[in-house]
Amino acid sequence: MATNALTPSGRSLLKAELHVHIEGAAHPDLVRKLAARHGTNLDEIMRDDGTYIWSDFTTFLQCYDRVAAVITTPEDYADLTEDYLLRNAAEGCFYTEFFLSPDHVALLGMSYDNLLEGVTEGLRRAKEICAKDGFPIDARFIVTCLRHMGPEPAIEVARRVAARPHPLVTGFGMGGDERMHSQLAFKPAFEIAHDAGLACTTHAGEFGGPESVRDALDHLPVTRIGHGVRSHEDPELMKRLADEGILLEVCPHSNVALGLYETLSDHPIEKLMAASIRTTVSSDDPPFFATSIGKEYDALQALKGWDNSVMEAFTERALEAAFIDEASRAGLLSRLTKGD
Ligand code: ADE
Ligand code: ZN
Repeated sequence: MATNALTPSGRSLLKAELHVHIEGAAHPDLVRKLAARHGTNLDEIMRDDGTYIWSDFTTFLQCYDRVAAVITTPEDYADLTEDYLLRNAAEGCFYTEFFLSPDHVALLGMSYDNLLEGVTEGLRRAKEICAKDGFPIDARFIVTCLRHMGPEPAIEVARRVAARPHPLVTGFGMGGDERMHSQLAFKPAFEIAHDAGLACTTHAGEFGGPESVRDALDHLPVTRIGHGVRSHEDPELMKRLADEGILLEVCPHSNVALGLYETLSDHPIEKLMAASIRTTVSSDDPPFFATSIGKEYDALQALKGWDNSVMEAFTERALEAAFIDEASRAGLLSRLTKGD
C-alpha cells in the first residue's frame, strides 16, 4: 500500500479518482483468485511476481483484454469493485468513478444488466464496510465504448445505456486505441448518450496529439478529457481548454509507463496547471502501471514539493467536475472542506 501524505491530524489526504478502468483496476491477487475460481491459466498474462506482461500500448491493450477475460460473472465484478474501492479507501480516496465497458463483457457472454448487477453489488458491499469503519465512500459509473471497435458498436453501446437509465451510471466515454478513427466519427454515439442525460468524457491527447483533443472539443459534448496531456504541445489549445473550463483527467504514472514521457519529472502536468487548465489525478489501470491513487498523489507531492492545500485542490476540482447529482456533490465537497 502506498504511504500517504498525512494531514496535521494524522489522516490521509482526502482523494477523489475520476479515471479508472474497472478491469484495469484488477489487483493481481484478485485476478489469481478469479482465475482459480474459473480454472484459467495466467501464464501469458502475469509473471510470478504479479506484474502483468506487456511492453507497449498495443500489447498493453491486448494484455488488458486477457485480464478482462478472467472476470466473467456478476460475482467477479462485485468482488473486483469491492476490492478496488476498499484499496482506494485505505489510501484516503472517498469518491471514485469507474469506466465500464459493455463490449468487454459481451465478448464473455455477459449482458450489460449483469455487469451493472455485479458492480452495484460490489459498491454496496464496499460502502457498507467503509461506513462501519467510519470512512464513508461513494462511486459512480461511466459506460465507455472502445475506439478501436469503430463507430457502429459505439452507437450500440450508447443506445443500450440510453435505454436503461440507472442512477449510478452517470457518464459516457470512450477508451481504446486513439490511433484509430477520429473523435468526430463517434459524434452520433456521444449525442445519443448526451441526449439521454449522461455527462461525457473521451480519451484524447494520449496517443493522439493536440489535434485529437481539438477534434473532441469541436465535435463531442464533453466537459472532461481523459489524459489530454499532449495539449501542452499547442499553446492555443491550452488557452482554449482553460477558457472553456475543460477538466483533464491526468494519469501521470500511466503516461510514463506507456512511454509518453521518460520520467515523472518530464510529465507536463505542471505546465498544464500553469496555463490555468483544470487538472485532476487518477491511476487509469493501477496494477498495470505499478501505481495507485495514493501513489499518484504522493509521488507528485514529493517531486514538486507541493503542500497539502495544492493536493487537496486536485480533489476539490475532481468533485466539482464529477459526474454526480448536485446534492451528492455538495455533500462530498462539504466533507472535503471539513476534512473528515
Ligand atoms: N483502456 C485502458 N487504459 C487505457 C488507456 N490508457 N488509453 C486508452 N484506453 C485504455
Ligand atoms: Zn484511461
